[in-house]
Amino acid sequence: MKKFLFLKSSVLQKNSVSSELIDFAGQYVDEKEVIDLEKLNIPELNVENFIQFNQEDSQQRLFQKEQIQKIKEKDVIVIGAPMYNFSTSIQLKKYIDLIAKAGETFHYTESGSVGHLIANDVVIVSSRAGSYSEQGIDFFDQYMTTVWNFLGVKNVHFVYAEKLAFGEDIKNESIFQAKKQLIELINKIKN
Ligand SMILES: Cc1cc2nc3c(=O)[nH]c(=O)nc-3n(C[C@H](O)[C@H](O)[C@H](O)COP(=O)(O)O)c2cc1C
Repeated sequence: MKKFLFLKSSVLQKNSVSSELIDFAGQYVDEKEVIDLEKLNIPELNVENFIQFNQEDSQQRLFQKEQIQKIKEKDVIVIGAPMYNFSTSIQLKKYIDLIAKAGETFHYTESGSVGHLIANDVVIVSSRAGSYSEQGIDFFDQYMTTVWNFLGVKNVHFVYAEKLAFGEDIKNESIFQAKKQLIELINKIKN
């Protein structure tokens, strides 16, 4: 049975659309771990913490090792990824900074980088007030694809809940469609 990691990264807690969609998708998976990155309190990548992350047996380093171990043993990663100012939430960015570690989740060779994650699939559940996916101007998508490919994940899927600020009806329809796509995708990936 495939092991799933679900990540929430919104600051909106109970009002978060992406977290609602993560909870929804989680119902269709038996073997899973759910992490709310807001509650994980990841140390930010400042000078002090950078030194600590590189010091064996420091509190920060042990925390980093634990999170790297968790993601490395998963087959599928599903990420609630709200768009904040055309980019990711700081919580998700801190997580990427935490788990992207040379020698542990990737390494470089003479012919380029090699990712170490065993997961074949990442699902990005992307929530946003506006609409970008149809316009081909979505550098958030490019960023996510680049990060997860770099770490070794071949397939990066996107499920959008867009136009969330275009009125109640459009918002509800968008969430409904996102749930439909999520069920289909999760069922396809998990078997
Ligand atoms: C600080 C902040 C910045 C935002 N920036 C954008 C943006 O650049 N583009 C957009 O379409 N929506 C933006 N939004 C709206 C969010 O994408 C929208 O509220 C979405 O539901 C967030 O996902 P969440 O509910 O899971 O937190 C922003 C919201 C916040 C709170």
